[in-house]
Amino acid sequence: MPLLPFALVRASAPWLRPLRALVTRNWMRESDADALLAALHPAWRLNRVFARVESRRWVADDMLALTLRPNGNWRGARVGQHVQLYLQRMGVRLSRSYSLTAVHADGLLEIAIKRQPGGRVSPYLLEQLAVGQVLELGSAFGELHWPEGQQGVVLLAAGSGITALIGLLRGALAQGYDAPIDLLHYVREQGQQAFVPELLALQQRHGNFRVRWAFSDAPAAEGELRGRFSSEHLQAVVGLAQRRVLACGPAGFVERVQRWWDGMGVNTALQYEAFTAPDLRQSEGAGSASAPVKVGFARSQQTVQGDPRRALLEQAEEHGLRPAHGCRQGICASCTCILLGGAVRDLRSGVVMSEPGQPIRLCISAPYRDLLLDL
Ligand code: FES
Repeated sequence: MPLLPFALVRASAPWLRPLRALVTRNWMRESDADALLAALHPAWRLNRVFARVESRRWVADDMLALTLRPNGNWRGARVGQHVQLYLQRMGVRLSRSYSLTAVHADGLLEIAIKRQPGGRVSPYLLEQLAVGQVLELGSAFGELHWPEGQQGVVLLAAGSGITALIGLLRGALAQGYDAPIDLLHYVREQGQQAFVPELLALQQRHGNFRVRWAFSDAPAAEGELRGRFSSEHLQAVVGLAQRRVLACGPAGFVERVQRWWDGMGVNTALQYEAFTAPDLRQSEGAGSASAPVKVGFARSQQTVQGDPRRALLEQAEEHGLRPAHGCRQGICASCTCILLGGAVRDLRSGVVMSEPGQPIRLCISAPYRDLLLDL
């Protein structure tokens, strides 16, 4: 039972100034200050953001929306951004990135978590995390935003990609966006359709908004679509070439959308976010990518054997290094590191980078030939 009410913790920033001053002058360690504060309330920390779970709501058979109230250290965010969530499980600190599906004026946040079968984080969050427990959050990051102008918008989501788009959609409709909006959500089967009652209610309320679902592993009913993303699914979209398009989902889905968009030959930018780094491409020149290479970590004075098929972040961690990171998906740039020599391959695009002094993202770069990192 916390010794202080959470409202007091949230309003405590001015009282923490003396403690922060002690830490800044090295008269006290931040971890000691945090231990003291956490003893009074589990969500109280000097600088770190902890949030209390306020409610749980199933939005699909395999997706849970959590409403969170962060402590006074939260610096704000907007829908469409991601936030890193940290938790300690059996002595191991784990982290995952989730999209903010709602950011309320009173400080409440919402994220939606899709079950990853066999995962170490989502099954715990879905099945065991209770209202009243606290979780640590990182800063919000991400550039996805509602497009300017009134040309109309097409939202393409696959799987949990819907979580990055629904907050933007809600916000746009609430602010009176009245140009046409089409949302296509690709799922495997009916139980994975997320936010269905809300989306149908929005469709009924806003004549300019239409939602459709496409099923890859289940038969589609009348008015629904079947299969993976295809340009045929967009045939009924009026004024498609003028629309702004946002796509979010697994890398393979986003790549298909990108190829279609490139083929359209329009000069507006496609906004997209891919959730997972794809496997290393077997493109021209990738033949040598299967041979082991030497990976040097200059500051740690280590040289290890690298696997050209896997991200350097993962490989560095396996060798005891703790590089800074956030999303692990090539979005937030917090794993950026300098390539001192050698070559890496971008796991998303297949592009090889070999310029010494070049910044690379460890989570989406694999060794290509012997290399040295400033790590
Ligand atoms: S951890 Fe976010 S870009 Fe690598």
